[in-house]
Amino acid sequence: DKGGYKHFMAKEIAEQPSVLSNALSAYVTEHGIALPDPGIDFTKIDRLVMVACGTAYYACFTAKYWFERLAKLPVEVDIASEFRYREPPISKGTAALFVSQSGETADTLAALRYCEGKADKIYSVVNVQESSIARESDLALPIHAGAEIGVASTKAFTCQLNVLLLLALKAAVERGTLSQEELEQILSDLRSLPGTLNAAMDRDADFANVSKKLSEARDVLFLGRGLMYPLAHEGALKLKEISYIHAEAYASGELKHGPIALIDKHVPVVVFAPKDSLFEKTVSNMQEVMARGGRVLLVTDSAGAEAAGAEAWRTITMPQVPEILTPLLYALPAQLLAYHTAVAKGTDVDQPRNLAKSVTVE
Ligand code: M6R
Repeated sequence: DKGGYKHFMAKEIAEQPSVLSNALSAYVTEHGIALPDPGIDFTKIDRLVMVACGTAYYACFTAKYWFERLAKLPVEVDIASEFRYREPPISKGTAALFVSQSGETADTLAALRYCEGKADKIYSVVNVQESSIARESDLALPIHAGAEIGVASTKAFTCQLNVLLLLALKAAVERGTLSQEELEQILSDLRSLPGTLNAAMDRDADFANVSKKLSEARDVLFLGRGLMYPLAHEGALKLKEISYIHAEAYASGELKHGPIALIDKHVPVVVFAPKDSLFEKTVSNMQEVMARGGRVLLVTDSAGAEAAGAEAWRTITMPQVPEILTPLLYALPAQLLAYHTAVAKGTDVDQPRNLAKSVTVE
């Protein structure tokens, strides 16, 4: 049931505020962050390895920034198809964490089995609780996204981010790198996030508008720095997947090491840049693009729009949220751009060619 929407994907994008608020209440109690038994003891590990495929991998990649920044815990992230055959050494004190919406992705399951008997503990973050990956973990944490039908993952991504952020916060408190007060502040910001996401849905028409232009492009670049770098990847993956437009993501700082050669007026460049601690740097990369005739779509907040919006080809202004929460909010532009571009192109949004919802063969 599409609940009145044209596509499952549109419904699942729109559901995110309510699904997230449910997911939050499953983990956040009056006393802090509570995990199902047997929980995770972050004081017992000195390294975390996170492995997944596709969008779930980009959730892990985002979480690496969170774990390292908040909990000072070294994190390695990898795509499952590489990890499983590389025979990576897993030292004692390493916990392995697998993220999968379906819980049945063949490469992710094989990577998990590789870690059995090597990693200190095996954890998973899944949507389907009765899945193989959940069954074979010491602890499986549900993301509570509800059934996701669209092949392009949307609400599962934000719900994966939600659980991973909560884990990073829990790790930070246990490892003594975050005070109880700081935790409470972030949790209270998180509680208002569903409302903010709801408000951000108002930008839907702006994304639909600019997507008509994107749908004429052959190639699109996505740029971001820090927490917005994994998001740039997620935006590019979404766009490729359902609109069949070639899209690539780069860390803004990598631009001049090659990709800037691609820039001309035919290649739109989507820049995710809330006015965070790295904003000025991203803006200078944006100016380099514009100096070469590139058309920049800047997705930022009002402070960012004021500082740099006038220079861009188009600017879409998102609500302001604390830096640490920006990935959860900027997932929305990544999804809406892909969705509306695909609609403008008339592709099969929910069942894009050549793709399956769950990849159970390698
Ligand atoms: O079920 P999983 O989360 O393990 O699936 C992983 C990827 O196949 C999946 O995220 C894929 O990249 C999506 N179609 C992206 O939208």
